[in-house]
Parts: sequence; C-alpha cells; structure tokens
Amino acid sequence: MTNPVILTGLRANNDLQIGNYFGAMLPIIDMAKSRSHDYQVNMFIPDLHSFTTPIDHSELQAQILHNARLYAAAGLPLDDDNIHLYRQSYVPAHSELTWILDCFTGFGEMSRMTQFKDKSGKLGDSQISVGLFNYPVLMAADILLYDAKYVPVGDDQTQHLEFARDIAERMNNRFGELFVVPEPVKAQHEFFGKEQGLRIMDLVNPTKKMSKSDETGKGVIFLGDEPATAAKKIMSATTDDKASVNYNPAEQPGISNLLDILALLRGKPVAEVASQYAGMDRYGDFKKIVADEMQKFLIDLQKSYDTYDSATIVAKLEASERAMNEQAGATLLRVQRAVGLRPPKEYDEI
Ligand code: TYM
Repeated sequence: MTNPVILTGLRANNDLQIGNYFGAMLPIIDMAKSRSHDYQVNMFIPDLHSFTTPIDHSELQAQILHNARLYAAAGLPLDDDNIHLYRQSYVPAHSELTWILDCFTGFGEMSRMTQFKDKSGKLGDSQISVGLFNYPVLMAADILLYDAKYVPVGDDQTQHLEFARDIAERMNNRFGELFVVPEPVKAQHEFFGKEQGLRIMDLVNPTKKMSKSDETGKGVIFLGDEPATAAKKIMSATTDDKASVNYNPAEQPGISNLLDILALLRGKPVAEVASQYAGMDRYGDFKKIVADEMQKFLIDLQKSYDTYDSATIVAKLEASERAMNEQAGATLLRVQRAVGLRPPKEYDEI
C-alpha cells in the first residue's frame, strides 16, 4: 500500500503573502513535519500557472527559486524521501494530462468559475487568455496525476477543487478506475483542522481577499516585506468605529481579520484569541500586539531563509522531479491507455 498523498502548489507570479502562507503553506508544512511517515507530501511550484495573468517573464526564474527557498525557510524538510518539492513544468505529464482532461470538460462549466469571472473582469479583452479560462483543468491534472487525497488551499480555490473531484468522477465513470478522487472539501477542512476555508482579507479593504497580485500592495503583507514595514501596515489597517474588539466578520471585518491573523501566528483557535481580547476598546493597543507578533514572525522566517543556498534547493528540486516524472508518467500512461492513445496493457507482453 502506498501512503495517501497531500499536495499543494502556489503560483510564482509575485512574492508570496501571508494569505498564501496561512491558507496553503502552513497546513502542508505542518503535515510534512509531523506526518511524513504516514503520508506522501507534494509541495510544488505551478510555474505554468504563473502567467495565466500577465507577469514580467524576466523575473520568473528568480521567483520560482525564491519560492522554493521560502518553503524550506518555512520549515519544509528537505532531507525526507516522502516529501517532494518540484516544478510543474519539469514534469511534462501535467501539460499532457491537461489536454486530455480539456476534451472532457464543458465550456459552460469553466465559464461558471467565479475566479475566472473575477479576474477576467479586471483585465482588458486582449489580456484574458485561454490559459486563464482553462487553468482549473491544469490544476485538476496537478492533483490527479499523483492520486492526491488532501489538498490544502484557501477559500478561493474551493470551486477548483470541486472541479477536480467532478472530472475525476466523470473519467472514472466513463473509463473505469483511473483516478483517486480527492476528499470532499469539508473532509479536507476537518483533516487540516480548519473549521472552514481560510480567507485572509486585505488590510486596507477588509471586505476583499488579500492577494499577491494587488497593485498597491498597501493592504498586503508579503513574506519578503521588511518586518518594520509589515508592522506599519498592521498599525494602519482599516477597522471600524465600534471601539470594541470582537470576532464578527460580517460587521467588524477589519478587527476580525486581525484576530484571525493573530490566532494563526500563535497557532491557537480564533475563539480562544478572540475571547482573550474581547471588548478591548483601544484598537491601537490591539493592533500593536498583532504588529509585534507579525514582526517577530517575519524576522524569524527571513533569518531562516538566509540559511539556505540555491544549490541545496536545486538539488532537492531535481531529485523530486526525477521521482515525480515516474509517478506522474505512470498515471498518464493509465489514462492514455484508457482513452485509446496507447495500446491496452494486455498487449505489453506480446
Ligand atoms: P495561488 O497561487 O493564487 O495561491 C496559493 C494558495 O494561497 C491561497 N490564498 C489564500 N488563502 C487564504 N487567504 C488569502 N487571502 C489567500 N490568497 C491566496 C490560495 O487559495 C492557494 O491555496 N491554482 C492555485 C495554485 C495551484 C494549485 C494546484 C493548488 C495550481 N495547481 C494544485 C493546489 C493544487 C492558485 O492559483 O493559487
């Protein structure tokens, strides 16, 4: 029996921000540190996803290596054969499976993806690529190639995860057991110990998701921010005029977001942290507590980052990519046989 697979990826289209860290990096790194005997852990860089929206391509290589090094800095163990760190485009099966799945995916179902609607709404017609439209299919291929069961992602990726389940079931119904179907989203949250999907909000506009592609960057804390700058961003976070700290995302989105961030930084349930500060009326004092904690987190992370050199990271990437080409290649062959692109298995012996 092979171990169940936990898998996630973060695009390298810009520096990572704390929403990425809490939504996807931290849950998988926690698992990698504590459960790698029982699970295979795949943390990869979806480099092909990185330019579904326009980027500066001259920076992509550096960003990819930077992100891989950040994963190590955040605690991903590099010396464990059950933990894999790889670049998507170094495993060509991702692109090949995508094309096959594309041909079983409805135009209508992709058109309904809310993230496509949001992102394309912000771009001019000439900038909306077919890649942006199609990217949930590539994401499904990323997951299904490795039989992944658990996929920690932020709230904004829930619909894409549901699609990965749908297409896996559709293919299995049509061609027999081809894919492991990832666990339903609710079971995923239970597995990672979250009550619900995580959505860290923008500090300036707390009704909007914090995003690494945000143009102003004022409401976003990047993992590479100077710790003092990050603390300032927290001190100027938008709050409300209620003058009472309470966890109520609908009515006090700014304060609730800061409580979420503080709880995550401390590794405590938000209810516990919220009750500790409930009713505090001086928002400045509360923000200072969050700002100090954030500053300390970034100082530690950045110090750890400096202890890794590129050669160590590249060696891990290359070793994982060799192993992943084998695993992904085996899944791809299963699918190619099923859809008639390769002779069926029984002909192997002839
Ligand atoms: P990406 O690169 O946009 O974001 C990476 C991860 O960070 C999460 N995230 C957040 N979580 C909480 N609060 C926020 N404000 C916040 N902003 C971002 C995202 O939900 C995501 O988990 N398509 C994916 C990358 C991908 C992938 C995959 C993930 C490609 N293939 C296969 C899992 C499995 C994406 O664009 O994430």
